[in-house]
Amino acid sequence: MSKKVVFSAIQPSGTPTLGNYLGALKNWSDMKDEYDCTFAVADLHAITVRQNPADLKRRTLEMYALLFALGLNNENSTVFVQSHVPAHTGLSWVLSCYSSFGEMSRMTQFKDKSQKHSDNVNVGLFSYPVLMVADILLYNAEFVPVGKDQNQHLEITRDIAERFNGIYGDVFTIPDSFKEFDGAKIMSLTDPTKKMSKSDDNLKSFISLTDTPSQITKKIKSAVTDSDGEVVYREGKDGVNNLLTIYSCCTGKTIKEAEKEFEGVLYGDFKQAVAESVVKELDPLLQRYNEYVADKQFLEKQMKIGAEKAAYVANKTLKKVMKKVGFYNI
Ligand code: TYM
Repeated sequence: MSKKVVFSAIQPSGTPTLGNYLGALKNWSDMKDEYDCTFAVADLHAITVRQNPADLKRRTLEMYALLFALGLNNENSTVFVQSHVPAHTGLSWVLSCYSSFGEMSRMTQFKDKSQKHSDNVNVGLFSYPVLMVADILLYNAEFVPVGKDQNQHLEITRDIAERFNGIYGDVFTIPDSFKEFDGAKIMSLTDPTKKMSKSDDNLKSFISLTDTPSQITKKIKSAVTDSDGEVVYREGKDGVNNLLTIYSCCTGKTIKEAEKEFEGVLYGDFKQAVAESVVKELDPLLQRYNEYVADKQFLEKQMKIGAEKAAYVANKTLKKVMKKVGFYNI
């Protein structure tokens, strides 16, 4: 039986957080053997917010190194940089002509980001989901493993693909949402009603994958909880729920098992255990990352291989689409 096709991507905008890791990256790594996987560093998406050119370039290489540190490579998957495959922008333009102003205006991420970057509400920020739709459809993805904040973009992918297929026949595979991961929504440590985000101004609110063990411990120790003193997962206990989720994802224990383990335990000791579980999970990753990121020559060679593998599939889809639309073929 052939393997199911998986596609996902991450932006190289800042050091990824524990949220990116538990909501997406760790799951990609777990999927690499069972699925036919393609993963991208979404640098085209990153410029919807103003980027310093040197930083964007460096972060793209760093993010690419991180994917390798996770165990992904061009043998068990396809790992590439989005801007290296021009078919993404090509399909994105075509699909933007099959997407409506109204549906893009309803995207909550656009509303949030246009408020946050009110001095630069550019057209790219508005049409950002269409580029994501193109990313997914180019590879005939059946599953797209993402965190919860991307669900609306997946729904719109299905809508646009179905609309296009409705006009031109079965061109695109309609992607399914993958089962929701336990870490699909890791919350801020300082305000556990908000998702953990690398662009948060409060540095204590998120854990970066490059934080040292002592930084991780400090941040988790000062995480907002409540005054109940009970380590149980319950509505209204957002802070404790978040720490239990993190602990469960990092140790592989269920929430129920974790609750049992921490019965009668003080929050201080519970937080210490959570911090240790995070350090134990991230430390080996960071060490592998440091080895990969130092080998620019290797990474650039892999970028070329990944781009060639990705372009082979993407160009075929784009060609089919262009033919259907009626573009003159010479
Ligand atoms: P990005 O770069 O913001 O995030 C990468 C992945 O991390 C997940 N994530 C989280 N998961 C759990 N808890 C959190 N606090 C948390 N924060 C982030 C995101 O859901 C995502 O899965 N537009 C996308 C990148 C992209 C893409 C695509 C994804 C471009 N093209 C095609 C899938 C398919 C983005 O900005 O993700």
